[in-house]
Amino acid sequence: MGSSDLSADEGFTDLLEIIEESLSFATSSYNNAYLDRRISARMRRRRVDDYESYQALLLDDAEEQTALLNSLSVNVTSFFRNPKMWEALREVLAELSASGRTRVWSAACSDGREAYSLAMLAHDDDRIDPSNVEILGTDIKPTILTAARRGEYRASETNDLLDQLSPLDDHERYIERDGDSFQVTDEVRDLVSFQKHDLVQEEPPQTFDLVLCRNLFIYINTDAKQAIFETLGSALAPDGYLTIGMTETIPPSCRGRFEPVEKRLRIYRNSAGDSNS
Ligand SMILES: C[S@@+](CC[C@H](N)C(=O)[O-])C[C@H]1O[C@@H](n2cnc3c(N)ncnc32)[C@H](O)[C@@H]1O
Repeated sequence: MGSSDLSADEGFTDLLEIIEESLSFATSSYNNAYLDRRISARMRRRRVDDYESYQALLLDDAEEQTALLNSLSVNVTSFFRNPKMWEALREVLAELSASGRTRVWSAACSDGREAYSLAMLAHDDDRIDPSNVEILGTDIKPTILTAARRGEYRASETNDLLDQLSPLDDHERYIERDGDSFQVTDEVRDLVSFQKHDLVQEEPPQTFDLVLCRNLFIYINTDAKQAIFETLGSALAPDGYLTIGMTETIPPSCRGRFEPVEKRLRIYRNSAGDSNS
């Protein structure tokens, strides 16, 4: 486990092939160090010392397959993750909605909190007409999309939902609270739909005025990153906006496509729109 040259380790590469072919998880899109950390954690859990034995166990055990797939997808998220970015995004959404119908894509949306944050913002800001805003949340993982559609979240010591919702003027309007359980209200859910989508393998579902694709690039490899930026570029309307995670960067080969609007906050605009303006 954890050898320095993983690509030369036959046990490791065979295991990745099995995961890709039998479990349909595109290991080739992720970086080896990330995959090894996740796989090794499962191996420790199952008290298995080498990749070959883990491969045998995996093929024979449907529960382990599910557990591995879950651990390979990192789903950490929150409402209004990185509040400073959301302050700037509020302005972007207000500007876009002033000119009519606004289509927004929360790509790699995890349990939906990013998509619902957008819908809450649309209701919270007097300059925005929520009936003009249409939000699509997509993710590769069907179980997380089921949770997203449900729109029910549980507060805990490590998941302070009230604090997460503090960028809103009146958060109580958008959630029904029952103890630690928070249910997103119907007026918020009505603006959002969810569907399964793989950002590496599939074309964008439609064209969007604003795309959020945040905190996915941190654990995928360079080729997949490039493929995703191409997908995102082709999803943007001519003057459309893109935002990525605060610790993420656009690969040099794709930089010409996106013009920085708020570089520090990772907000960009489709530079293809320049020729139309
Ligand atoms: C860390 S979460 C980010 C959630 C949210 N965007 C945020 O910033 O809080 C990353 C999400 O990417 C999803 N994901 C991983 N690979 C993907 C792919 N190829 N296509 C679409 N979603 C993917 C995972 O299932 C996970 O829910």
